[in-house]
Amino acid sequence: MKDKTFSVSITEQEIRQQVQRVAAEITRDYEGRQPVFLAVLNGSFVFAADLLREVDLPCEISFVKLASYEGTATTGNVREIIGMNTDITGRPVIIVEDIVDTGLTMAHMLDTLKGHNPQSIDICTLLLKPSKLQVKLDIKYCCKEIPDDFVVGYGLDYDGFGRNTKDIYTLI
Ligand code: IMP
Repeated sequence: MKDKTFSVSITEQEIRQQVQRVAAEITRDYEGRQPVFLAVLNGSFVFAADLLREVDLPCEISFVKLASYEGTATTGNVREIIGMNTDITGRPVIIVEDIVDTGLTMAHMLDTLKGHNPQSIDICTLLLKPSKLQVKLDIKYCCKEIPDDFVVGYGLDYDGFGRNTKDIYTLI
């Protein structure tokens, strides 16, 4: 793809099995509750679509995006959540992410969401690179832990391309 070579590392079948496993865990853990899924765009759109159809609960979904901008002298790079048109006050929230790498994106997301006073927040990620984590994060739901490699496909991109594959590929 483009100037790089990738090979299949997680097959469509394995992804489906892991998505079903995680969806069953969420269905069990959230029995009697009506969670709001917050899917973080762009990368999570494929995962979120498959996950939601496997979750057997009354639930809502909202798609959010993180906007970065320069602004404060202290942090230098503040992230704002845009597009959240569901009131999450007092609601159980499940963040749906494609991949957690350093964890900084997720840490910012958690900080901002807590300001909206949800009942609870859990993180659900398709992929996690444990060796890259820079912050302590409680990731309750994870389909698969992977090594510190660059991956594309099933929603994840390389420079905007490669989101539309059924398998996940690793840069070789
Ligand atoms: P973090 O803040 O370092 O955890 O970065 C998370 C974001 O980086 C993800 O939502 C992805 O958009 C992007 N990312 C991290 N690793 C990869 C990868 O291997 N392939 C594609 N995108 C990645």
